[in-house]
Amino acid sequence: MQKTEVNFTDYLKSTLKFMSRYGLLLTSISREGKANVMTIGWGTIGIIWNKPIFVVLVRPSRFTYNFIKDTGVFTVNVPSERIIEAVSFCGTVSGRDYDKFKEKELTPLPGEKVKSPLIKECLVHYECKVVHKNVVIPKELALNISSLFYPENDYHNIFFGEIMATYASDMAKESLGNF
Ligand SMILES: Cc1cc2nc3c(=O)[nH]c(=O)nc-3n(C[C@H](O)[C@H](O)[C@H](O)COP(=O)(O)O)c2cc1C
Repeated sequence: MQKTEVNFTDYLKSTLKFMSRYGLLLTSISREGKANVMTIGWGTIGIIWNKPIFVVLVRPSRFTYNFIKDTGVFTVNVPSERIIEAVSFCGTVSGRDYDKFKEKELTPLPGEKVKSPLIKECLVHYECKVVHKNVVIPKELALNISSLFYPENDYHNIFFGEIMATYASDMAKESLGNF
């Protein structure tokens, strides 16, 4: 499948809609070069510091968390509806216990600008380099959100990834038509 570099805004709407309906696949990599993939349902894309930024929220309990912290890179991949089952799997089991790429036959492709891989079976890919990280501050958070999403005090870390490159597969336009 051919992948072409596109503008980071080209698939903005479909990326956000897909994320809210099914989730996206985030890849990370350890210092030693072990890759992992997890599903994300929260995040946003915009301009900060005059840069295109993908903001993702990752709880410290995720295997992914130390990978991003240590290497400062991640990619976000927009799946096709054909691999929705893999999206759900990657959002329920941990890379501590499974090689999720192998289990779900997802093919890691080398990133161009970052070490974290792209996923061949996905349609759109954002390569990101962390330029800022932060933690959700409990006392600054609305009480109703805090009690609903953080009963175990597992507050998300917020990673601000500069989008270094965005790619789309030749199937992206057609397959994301409904999004
Ligand atoms: C639809 C969906 C969306 C999710 N969104 C997030 C998210 O934005 N942040 C997060 O920390 N975990 C999120 N999760 C949970 C992680 O994907 C899940 O805990 C995963 O097993 C972590 O994998 P890891 O331990 O290999 O990093 C989501 C799960 C699903 C099913």
